[in-house]
Amino acid sequence: MSNTAAARAFAPATVGNIICGFDIFGLALGAPGDEVEAKLRDEPGVVITAVHGDGGRLPIQADRNVVGVAINAVLTECGLENVGVEIEVWKGLPISGGMGGSAASAVAAVVAADELLQTRLSSEAMLRCASEGERGPKGDTHPDNIAPALHGGIVMVRPDEPAIAIPLPVPDGLSVALVHPDLELETNDMRGVLPDTIPLSKAVRQWADCSALVVGLYEEDWDLIRRALVDRVAEPHRIPFIPGFGAVRAASLEAGALGAGLSGSGPSMFALCRTITDARSVASAMAEAFAGVGLEGADTHVSEVGNTGAHVIKPPA
Ligand code: HSE
Repeated sequence: MSNTAAARAFAPATVGNIICGFDIFGLALGAPGDEVEAKLRDEPGVVITAVHGDGGRLPIQADRNVVGVAINAVLTECGLENVGVEIEVWKGLPISGGMGGSAASAVAAVVAADELLQTRLSSEAMLRCASEGERGPKGDTHPDNIAPALHGGIVMVRPDEPAIAIPLPVPDGLSVALVHPDLELETNDMRGVLPDTIPLSKAVRQWADCSALVVGLYEEDWDLIRRALVDRVAEPHRIPFIPGFGAVRAASLEAGALGAGLSGSGPSMFALCRTITDARSVASAMAEAFAGVGLEGADTHVSEVGNTGAHVIKPPA
């Protein structure tokens, strides 16, 4: 191993839940995303040398940053505890924005480390290592952002221990309008507002919608996809924290979206659309609706569902 070797990787923004499938469905955009560069260092252990684009807010200590935790998991997984890795992170995604920012960093870190160390990790092992960085306070993981950031496309996550990612088909043209208002919500706080149990009648309707979404994707049945995009589990408890939620969703449907809701635990909202052209109009309508409740200047991102997922990129010259 040479101490000048470096590898850099990109991982995209993702939308967790896809409305109906709390913690089990996620999809990837093509861009934006985070980038991570990994280099060998002489001393064992993981060191984060810099995080760019976070306004100095993310911890730089490797054991407190998802990137450091994920790379340490790679070293442990491969029995390379004596190897030293130096990391630099470029955040393209907002902190606590509901766009899968920490998942993108963790996934880009694992992909960069795998390339640097030539460890040829399986996708299951990459999922496991990247998920370590995102363990919640109760030790739980919910890799509905990690899995699509890694694989691209639309992914179902079986919450086994370890989790299993099952890619789902992406109908031609399926596109996303993602709108990020200038707000932050911590995922752990937004999980804290959820009840521990839900009534059986709601559960029945919810698992019918999850199944309907899967069938809709396989059959390219746009009407079934549209009708499946309902969340009775998390959304009702989270809406009070997102000013303008109802107006933004109404504006997206009026502009031609198949369905709209929170991206992960919010505050970003997203809409699924049949075409990229629809997604452009829908994103503008959603941003305008946010402006109508005083949240001017929301960032909009429009992308076909990105099939590439995380990948190694060339460091800039
Ligand atoms: N599915 C998670 C939630 C967010 O809604 O709390 C992303 O993991």
